[in-house]
Amino acid sequence: MVICLNETLIVYGTRYGATPEACAVIQKILEKEYKILVEIWDLENYRACPDLEEFDNIILASGIEHGKWTKNTRKFLTKDLKDKNVAVFISSSFAGEEELYDHAYKNFLEDVLVEYPEVNIVAKAAFGGRVPKKELPNIAKNAIVARLPEFQEDNRNWDKITEWAHEVGKIFTIK
Ligand SMILES: Cc1cc2nc3c(=O)[nH]c(=O)nc-3n(C[C@H](O)[C@H](O)[C@H](O)COP(=O)(O)O)c2cc1C
Repeated sequence: MVICLNETLIVYGTRYGATPEACAVIQKILEKEYKILVEIWDLENYRACPDLEEFDNIILASGIEHGKWTKNTRKFLTKDLKDKNVAVFISSSFAGEEELYDHAYKNFLEDVLVEYPEVNIVAKAAFGGRVPKKELPNIAKNAIVARLPEFQEDNRNWDKITEWAHEVGKIFTIK
């Protein structure tokens, strides 16, 4: 019998499906290795969100398009989250390229979170992403991407995602 110690809410916003795949990997690790019960929620497709009262620990994740989070993930940051442990990650193709990682981390993660000083951020990460094949020509036109010798359509690093899940699992289970 699995005894679940506490509950975590994962909320995400996606446009092309890459972000929830990372959420699913993180969910599995939290459940299996840390005995955390995880509820997972798509913020763009469900209007209502579960009652936050039930959760001390939250993971918020957004895909990045043209430098922007999804609408509802940004909106989620305006909730009263000062008494929660909030871990945040973004799925960004720029973050998956060595040359663009710092740019992505600063512009798409740090600069966004600084706007919400009330939110108790306990961990943050910028992961690579996956561009759907039919969208590749669009992103290739981007001035920064055009300078890269080789742009990979899927540059997610699953080891990095796994490592971060463990970091978050440890933070969420500290008594
Ligand atoms: C039209 C378009 C614009 C994009 N713009 C950016 C961008 O400005 N910066 C970036 O890091 N990635 C950009 N990406 C790549 C996405 O961040 C990547 O596909 C991500 O994994 C999407 O997450 P999602 O599938 O959960 O929406 C773009 C992708 C598309 C298709």
